Amino acid sequence: MTLHAHAQQLDPRTLRDAFGAFPSGVVAVAASVKGQLAGIAASSFTSVSIDPPLVSFSISTTSSTWPLLREADRLGISVLADHHDAVCRQLAGPREERFAGLPFRVTDGGAVLLDEAVATYDCSVHEEVVAGDHVIVLLEVHEVGGGDGEHPLVFHRSAFAKLHRDDLDPARLDGRINGAEVDRGAEKTVAGHSADEDAA
Ligand SMILES: Cc1cc2nc3c(=O)[nH]c(=O)nc-3n(C[C@H](O)[C@H](O)[C@H](O)COP(=O)(O)O)c2cc1C
Repeated sequence: MTLHAHAQQLDPRTLRDAFGAFPSGVVAVAASVKGQLAGIAASSFTSVSIDPPLVSFSISTTSSTWPLLREADRLGISVLADHHDAVCRQLAGPREERFAGLPFRVTDGGAVLLDEAVATYDCSVHEEVVAGDHVIVLLEVHEVGGGDGEHPLVFHRSAFAKLHRDDLDPARLDGRINGAEVDRGAEKTVAGHSADEDAA
């Protein structure tokens, strides 16, 4: 049976629920382009490559914002902080209200970076890959910023969540893989990969 035949049998609701089981952060993808502010909230952001520096997110082929946003010389990615839940809803809401009252700065190239983000990336479009009803957008990263926000907003099962302070304490995770104590000095790599590299 082909993959396509499998996909046809899947109920979209069931698939959405399965996708929603995977927790993610949320970013603002935003730019000032042709004199207009354009942006969306996206939970599909992920890191891709160190050399060259690439990140990606997926945008619906029906997006009314992407045709304008993709024209920007530079796109800003801002990792939303855990107090940005209302900001996230605003960035996903009516287009004319998305930036109302939001504190942000615009880089020379036009990337829009939100204040109090956990991290920021100044990017340009590297490649677009059509994938079903979305386009995977690969972005080249030109600059990164530390941001002023401390803790990230988490999106899980269609709801916002926060990480517990304990979850953010590296000392509680260091040296334990699947609950078992390991000697990090001797067992630094897993199957030839640095655990730190792949978890970045
Ligand atoms: C938490 C959250 C995550 C979202 N993630 C994505 C995403 O990864 N890709 C996407 O195309 N839209 C995503 N959206 C929807 C967009 O923010 C936006 O509402 C949508 O693109 C419609 O607006 P547009 O027609 O201006 O593009 C998300 C919305 C929310 C609230």
